[in-house]
Amino acid sequence: MTRHFLRDDDLTQAEQSEILDLAIELKKDRFQVKPLAGPQTVAVIFDKSSTRTRVSFAVGIADLGGVPLIISTANSQLGGKETATDTARVLERQVAAIVWRTFAQSGLEEMAAGTTVPVVNGLSDDFHPCQLLADLLTIREHRGALAGSTVTFLGDGASNMAQSYLLAGAVAGMHVRIASPGAFAPTASVVDDARRVAAVNGGSIELFTDPVAAVTGADVVVTDTWVSMGKEDEKSKRLRDLGAYRVDAELMGTASPGALFLHCLPADRGFEVTADVIDGPQSAVWDEAENRLHAQKALLVWLLARA
Ligand code: CP
Ligand code: NVA
Repeated sequence: MTRHFLRDDDLTQAEQSEILDLAIELKKDRFQVKPLAGPQTVAVIFDKSSTRTRVSFAVGIADLGGVPLIISTANSQLGGKETATDTARVLERQVAAIVWRTFAQSGLEEMAAGTTVPVVNGLSDDFHPCQLLADLLTIREHRGALAGSTVTFLGDGASNMAQSYLLAGAVAGMHVRIASPGAFAPTASVVDDARRVAAVNGGSIELFTDPVAAVTGADVVVTDTWVSMGKEDEKSKRLRDLGAYRVDAELMGTASPGALFLHCLPADRGFEVTADVIDGPQSAVWDEAENRLHAQKALLVWLLARA
């Protein structure tokens, strides 16, 4: 049965942990396994801009002995004349897996339902699960065990990053706190799903409006752009409404000693985070960006072994 990775809770805690263990092994020697030797091709499709996702999948697929086929929907039939299902049925006869960065989560679900090869969410409006594998890997490297640790995400609680923290943190057995204004709270059904998963894995989910209460004692502090791709027309409102959730040195000072700062990038210094925090000693954002490579390679190895 083909496995897909469309949202963070598509993996059990044991499966998530197995992929992170494999990522740590692959990081020691990038060229040790070649499941795509042949070479086989992996299609990586972008409806939105990208630097990290594009580079890390292209390099990772090459490391695994394969060929990355980077497709921009701006010059393909997908999204224009052709449905996700029809595109998937064409691609599955020629590629080993499909990675897709898109808008609606429902498009990914449609594509996965219509194909026999693994489909990976390279970011949707709702979730960014590949980024979360990289973030969890970075937290493990810098802070040790995930289960029982506390992570606070500040800013747009309905963003793909916040919602992936809810699900991936719940799978990992973490205590996940989201701090946002009420109008930017996570989607209720995602919170419900995260609470159910957290209960199974010994974690917890808490929503805050007070940023200081949310960060106090946290082991990891995370933020993301206040203006996600597709939200550009709301920019001035978002900068105004989210201003109290900026991560600065004073707010970091309320976290636990040695707390880690993460940001998936790209960052707007001076908006969601001050330069002294993102460029300071508690920040692990460059390790986090590198870990996209190792985590996604492990994910592909894992998915291809089940395809
Ligand atoms: N973090 C992340 O996904 O970056 P890109 O948008 O550059 O891929
Ligand atoms: N939330 C951001 C993440 C970018 C990697 C966005 O969707 O634009």
